[in-house]
Order: sequence, then C-alpha cells, then structure tokens
Amino acid sequence: MDRTLAILKPDCTRRKLTGKAIDFILEKGFKIKAIRTLTLKKEEAEAFYAVHRGKPFFNDLTSYMTSGPIFAMVLEKQNCVEDFRKVIGHTDPKKAENGTLRKLYGINIQENFVHGSDSEENANKEIAFFFPLIEIIT
Ligand code: RTP
Ligand code: MG
Repeated sequence: MDRTLAILKPDCTRRKLTGKAIDFILEKGFKIKAIRTLTLKKEEAEAFYAVHRGKPFFNDLTSYMTSGPIFAMVLEKQNCVEDFRKVIGHTDPKKAENGTLRKLYGINIQENFVHGSDSEENANKEIAFFFPLIEIIT
C-alpha cells in the first residue's frame, strides 16, 4: 500500500487544531501508520527542506518550522501521495481549493498548516527522515 509523510505544522499545533486535522485526514480514508510529535532543531528543518536552500523564503521557512511542536505522520492509502496533495491543497491558502486543509485552516503561504510529500521517492526519504530517527535516539 502507498504511503506518504504528513506534517501538522507549528501553526496547527499552536492553535490546538491537531485533533481536527487528524479527524479530517481519517475521514478522507487515510490510515495513520505512525505518528510522533517533536520540535525540529534548525539544522533538522534545514535538512528536511534542503531542496529549498538558497530560496528567498528558506530562512523564514526553517525558523517557522522550528517555532513549535509538529506532528509527523506516516499515512497509508491507495494513491496516497497524490490524494494527500489534493486533500491539503495549494501551497498558498488563498489559492487552495474549497474543502482542502489549507483552505480551511491555512493562515498564509508560509503558515500553511500541513505538509505532504510531493512524490513517492520523496515520501520514502521523508518517512525515513522522521521514523528511524526516534529508534536511534531512544
Ligand atoms: P510542503 O512541502 O510544506 O508540503 O509545501 P508545498 O510542497 O506545497 O510547497 P513548497 O514549494 O515545497 O514550499 C515548502 C514550504 O515553504 C513555505 N513557503 N513559503 N514565502 C513563500 O513564498 C513561501 N513559499 C513556500 C511554505 O510553508 C511551504 O509549504
Ligand atoms: Mg513541498
């Protein structure tokens, strides 16, 4: 079964919307196969979003992503990566389709509530980024 890596970002946890987000995701037919909450360190956020290094928003993005706790989740469903991108909607909540998580809860293009992997290859890398780590640390 296909898997993706989802993150409930700091603006979600700060506003106590994690329960609503999780209900929404379950109701859309995704199974949660793993979940953990943590606060990223700056260098971890920089590694996770390394593809954006050098872009004008990179420092703001990594500061924001380290500003509070996140929830990282492995989701499972058929056609999981593509379907979860549809569920979260456009990067900019103003442009997100009605009924998407970012339209419902996103604040702006940076504080956009949720992350979803953008390809199966990246999903596998991003799942490995979060989920072997906890085994190593503990
Ligand atoms: P994500 O990776 O978090 O699921 O978001 P995405 O694919 O929809 O967007 P991406 O281009 O990968 O950008 C990653 C995150 O960087 C922040 N961002 N800020 N200020 C800006 O112009 C800007 N553009 C992107 C957002 O938090 C975005 O989700
Ligand atoms: Mg992305």
